[in-house]
Amino acid sequence: MTNPNDALFALREALKFSPDNIPLRQHIADTLLNRGEAAAAAIEYQQALALAPQNLDLKLGLAKAYYQEGKDSAALVIIEDILARGETSPTILTLHARLLMRSGDLSTAAQQFRKALNEDPSLEQSDLVDRLGVKQAEAGDNFDSMPEGMEKPGISFQDVGGMEEVKEEIRLKIIYPLTHAEMYRAYGKSIGGGILLYGPPGCGKTHLARATAGEIQAGFISVGLNEILDMWIGNSEKNLHQLFDRARRNQPSVLFFDEVDALAASRADLRQSSGKQLINQFLTELDGVQYSNEGVLILAATNAPWHLDTAFRRPGRFDRILLIPPPDADARAAILRIICQGKPIEDLDYQFLAQKTDGCSGADLKLVVDLAVEKKLQAAMKTGIPQPLTTKDLATAASGVKSSTREWFNTAKNYATHANQDGNYDDILKYLKM
Ligand SMILES: Nc1ncnc2c1ncn2[C@@H]1O[C@H](COP(=O)(O)OP(=O)(O)O)[C@@H](O)[C@H]1O
Ligand SMILES: [Mg+2]
Repeated sequence: MTNPNDALFALREALKFSPDNIPLRQHIADTLLNRGEAAAAAIEYQQALALAPQNLDLKLGLAKAYYQEGKDSAALVIIEDILARGETSPTILTLHARLLMRSGDLSTAAQQFRKALNEDPSLEQSDLVDRLGVKQAEAGDNFDSMPEGMEKPGISFQDVGGMEEVKEEIRLKIIYPLTHAEMYRAYGKSIGGGILLYGPPGCGKTHLARATAGEIQAGFISVGLNEILDMWIGNSEKNLHQLFDRARRNQPSVLFFDEVDALAASRADLRQSSGKQLINQFLTELDGVQYSNEGVLILAATNAPWHLDTAFRRPGRFDRILLIPPPDADARAAILRIICQGKPIEDLDYQFLAQKTDGCSGADLKLVVDLAVEKKLQAAMKTGIPQPLTTKDLATAASGVKSSTREWFNTAKNYATHANQDGNYDDILKYLKM
């Protein structure tokens, strides 16, 4: 048997004579990677990529090497770039799933892994099958374990920074009635109705809704703007009924209407149009008289609650309206911690960073981290040596990101001072200390 080191030595010797031989370089890199020498493999892939920057196998090899080294964000950037170029394969998708899983985004990870299985049902990745709850046996026509349009989010309340009061409100109003139905009945407390989340964009309404489903391992159906617009255009009350129906048949479930103002707008032009039927259908479904909504948690979110028809706020409908404000300093620290999870970082001073990001939404904080990561990657591509993110990197990135929540409060303030007959916007006044 030849000593593998000798083999590698011979290959390197060969390379000396034909340094531009890309397949040879790739062979050396692959060999190193298979032997678990990820760092050395990464260097070979980089050198080969310098000669053939668009070579897909080399890019994938480099991503795998980074993944083995635990340099997840570097690997993610490469994989996401590959996918963005429209390239896909079971290997690419599986690696993406693994990276997403390590970053804590289990639901997207599951999605990608399902796609990989769909392309190649014989993939042997039993650890992914177990951890992502994706059933391999069902691969084939009916490979998705969830009904169409439904997912099981892999995040729970612990992935939502701050918002302790809001979480408690959600527990009391919709989670406990589901998990302790008999107790609620004993007190004669009626069950039903939904929660409307409102507030400036990027502060976690959608994130929280998904986490609510994950918290109780419920199926999650998200009805976004596109679905809603489809319903408007198709004037299809039937589609709306089917959504509720799917949620009822697969309880416990969370039915989430994102940007619900599009569906429930009070604008006269919509109410007069044939869309009126759609609104009425929505109200009927919410009331749950004809078909019970027990076991279905109904959540909705909007950035513009003032556009919402008041009929939606009656008891038994969206009778709890919760402001999701921008995160305070402690929440910002918690969110940064969540976002940085799984990335190469130094011991970060989160409290300091929280002070540097006053007024930032969760989405703004994500941008801060993204910017800092990009800079790090840029440097790493030059030197070939990835360095961990530091407090200073993030603080520098933060100084270039503007808070995106102030504008929303300017509008909100007008409604809260001039159109607050029912006290709906007291929370805004309280938040603004007015
Ligand atoms: N409280 C939070 N904890 C953790 N991440 C958050 C939080 N708020 C926002 N984010 C992050 O910011 C992103 C944007 O938030 P999103 O839920 O889409 O905001 P909204 O629906 O209010 O516009 C989310 O995908 C999430 O990654
Ligand atoms: Mg949203």
